[in-house]
Amino acid sequence: MKRTVLIALALLPVSLATASDDPIAQRQDLMSETREALKPLIGISRGQADFDAETVSASLAVFANTAEKAPALFPEGSETGGDTEAKATIWSDRDGFDQRFQDFAEAVAAAQAANIASAEELGPKLQDVLGTCKGCHDNYRVEKE
Ligand code: HEC
Repeated sequence: MKRTVLIALALLPVSLATASDDPIAQRQDLMSETREALKPLIGISRGQADFDAETVSASLAVFANTAEKAPALFPEGSETGGDTEAKATIWSDRDGFDQRFQDFAEAVAAAQAANIASAEELGPKLQDVLGTCKGCHDNYRVEKE
């Protein structure tokens, strides 16, 4: 499980470099990293991997980075192109969208502040975070396949 995180972190500079200054590619890369960081946490919470505090804090740090950087990667003019799954509602309801990022940031901050020390403690905090992923995707991301 630890290895997954290390690989994800090792890939980070590469993906950022290839994303250049295209906000669509950048936000998709950021979201992909977020999904990769999520995987070890799912494994731990399901008991498929041993609890590891470093893995948990590394993943939460990736989430916090996404919460901080992603809102700026949806500028006017990036509504279409680059295979984006962003819904037009992001730009017609910007306050609502920003609020979803705020909810996400708060759930991540709460998980970080909780000093999670076991899979049992991780479960509910992870559910809270995942609820905010879904809360945004349901409203602001096009469903594909
Ligand atoms: C405030 C809104 C918001 C939150 C919170 C959010 N996402 Fe996203 N996510 C999006 C949007 C919008 C897209 C589509 C971006 C695009 O294609 O331009 C996306 C795309 C993705 C993608 C596809 C990336 C790709 O390569 O196209 C993944 C995976 C993803 N999100 C995972 C997550 C996970 C996991 C979380 C929570 C831990 C999360 N997201 C939280 C808005 C959000």
